[in-house]
Amino acid sequence: MRTLKDMDLAGKKVLVRVDFNVPVKNGEVSDDTRLSAHVPTIKSILEKKPARIILMSHLGRPKGAASPEFSLKIVLPRLEKLLGQKVHFFEDCVGKETGGGLEKLPGGSIALLENLRFHAEEKNNDDNFAKTLASYGDVFIQDAFAVSHRAHASTVGIPALLPSAAGFLIEKEVKYLSELLQNPRRPFAAVLGGAKVSTKISVMKSLLSKVDYLLVGGAMSYTFLKARGENTGLSLVEDDFLEKAREIAAEAGNKLLLPSDHLISKSFKEPLESSAAGAIPDGFYGVDIGPETLREYSRILKSAKTIFWNGPMGVFEVDAFAEGTKTIAGVIAEATKAGAVSVAGGGDSVAAINKTGLAEDFSHISTGGGASLEFVEGRNLPGIEALNQE
Ligand code: 3PG
Repeated sequence: MRTLKDMDLAGKKVLVRVDFNVPVKNGEVSDDTRLSAHVPTIKSILEKKPARIILMSHLGRPKGAASPEFSLKIVLPRLEKLLGQKVHFFEDCVGKETGGGLEKLPGGSIALLENLRFHAEEKNNDDNFAKTLASYGDVFIQDAFAVSHRAHASTVGIPALLPSAAGFLIEKEVKYLSELLQNPRRPFAAVLGGAKVSTKISVMKSLLSKVDYLLVGGAMSYTFLKARGENTGLSLVEDDFLEKAREIAAEAGNKLLLPSDHLISKSFKEPLESSAAGAIPDGFYGVDIGPETLREYSRILKSAKTIFWNGPMGVFEVDAFAEGTKTIAGVIAEATKAGAVSVAGGGDSVAAINKTGLAEDFSHISTGGGASLEFVEGRNLPGIEALNQE
């Protein structure tokens, strides 16, 4: 893969695709992992004395039309602080004013274009849209690992038109995620959680051929439990996937571990009545893994030498149901300090790790949710495939 290091960027207009698709709560960026993750790439380009840097990104899923709630303006204050310099914001990613305005910027400026997905042409990978964006730069740096599984104008259209290379974030993501797939140190344990089995089937199948243990938590475990005839009460279950769950469980044999006990609750709202139980009775929701499961999963993770984690163990957004997810984060951090390689991905698990303040203790926190899963499944990511190779 050709990377930023191989590029002569002095005096060039450098177009950079970043993924600033950050979580927003109460009108503010609630987690800036996806902003700070691009800082090394942007700073390194600046050191090469470019004419200017033009950053472009999407935010959310605005359905091809401008919509204030998805404006990238929201990231500006935090981004300027992280970069220690002014960032010039353009109210539209294309159009005369943008093209003309970019040309007037002083040397060494950084510009940020408004949400690419305010135009349906971005997702449709429209030729003219890609040409307009490409006309703003001399070279293209792809740093948005988290969106590299999408074949959009800004991921595959532009690199077909400009000399291109991967930024440091892509390089780092590919390095750590590839290490999981090629020669992982053993034992290798994967922890999968989150709401739905349906979104994790391919990654489970692919991981089963590589891992020694597949530890399952979160609501997706209830589909597996129901599939083997256990009571799941009111818990979220994907009934259409019971057969698939049986198939995976049969294929996995002893590698697959499911929760043996649960935190159960009659409601997700206050006042919460919760207790630990071996099975989920009628009238209750499963909301977290129980203490016995936590002990067993922790024992396995403490002895693991390679760990991959995607998806929370319960409804971690509610403090009373976050114990399982927080403890798993802590155990993986400890295992990493003791020499294991740990990689976590997926918006929710990353938010949970950040909440515990343990991010620094992981070997790598992937900025990709869907992208890191697809990478681990062994699929080619179009946004990376599209870049010039050495
Ligand atoms: C993500 O949040 O995983 C990326 O930014 C991609 O977003 P998308 O799923 O809306 O394409």
